Amino acid sequence: RFKAVIFDLDGVITDTAHYHYLAWKQLAESQGVHFDHAFNENLKGIDRMGSLDLILASSSRSYTPEEKLALADAKNLHYQQLIATMSSKDLLPGAVEALDAVRRAGLRIGLASVSKNAFTVLERLGITDKFDYVVDAATIARGKPDPEIFLKAARELGVAPADCLGVEDAVAGVAAIKSAGMFALGIGHPFVLTEADVVITSLKEFNLAAY
Ligand code: BG6
Ligand code: MG
Repeated sequence: RFKAVIFDLDGVITDTAHYHYLAWKQLAESQGVHFDHAFNENLKGIDRMGSLDLILASSSRSYTPEEKLALADAKNLHYQQLIATMSSKDLLPGAVEALDAVRRAGLRIGLASVSKNAFTVLERLGITDKFDYVVDAATIARGKPDPEIFLKAARELGVAPADCLGVEDAVAGVAAIKSAGMFALGIGHPFVLTEADVVITSLKEFNLAAY
């Protein structure tokens, strides 16, 4: 019943969510801000500056725009070091099988990641050519939970939002899919992704015919 499937990248296709966690944790603690997995959950799907603002909100001091930019750059440099050795072995179980199943079913395939490192990660994973369209995060004005990135993917794929299935691991991402008017497949836990239409544990359970 769908005409396109639009995937998130981090935490859905590959576990870069863990690398983002490590890089943000180091940055937060360098500023005296406590950082744990529960807090990191709020950052999933949130763009770089948005994430930094959420972290620095718990800091005892205030930051100039220049200081913020320097901190965001430092986090990104650390993150890029962490992803430098990634390869196809970093694909999450079921990811390639899911992409291939969507292709075999004749649907269009998009990627909607707010990460400015998404093209690099796709290259490292060796799956760039599996997508009909990848949104360039640099062209997006409003990050998730705003629907902009999913709506842009649908438009570029030539498919109406109502005919799209969106796949997300983040609360903000699921919210973006729902406000775009799409069907939301959550990857994770139903207690966390309460807005999703269906939640599965990983793409290993992906079954296009079931949604
Ligand atoms: C999202 C991640 O995909 O990309 C976030 O879920 C991350 O954790 C965001 O902050 C932005 O990534 P980048 O690579 O542009 O800093
Ligand atoms: Mg994600």
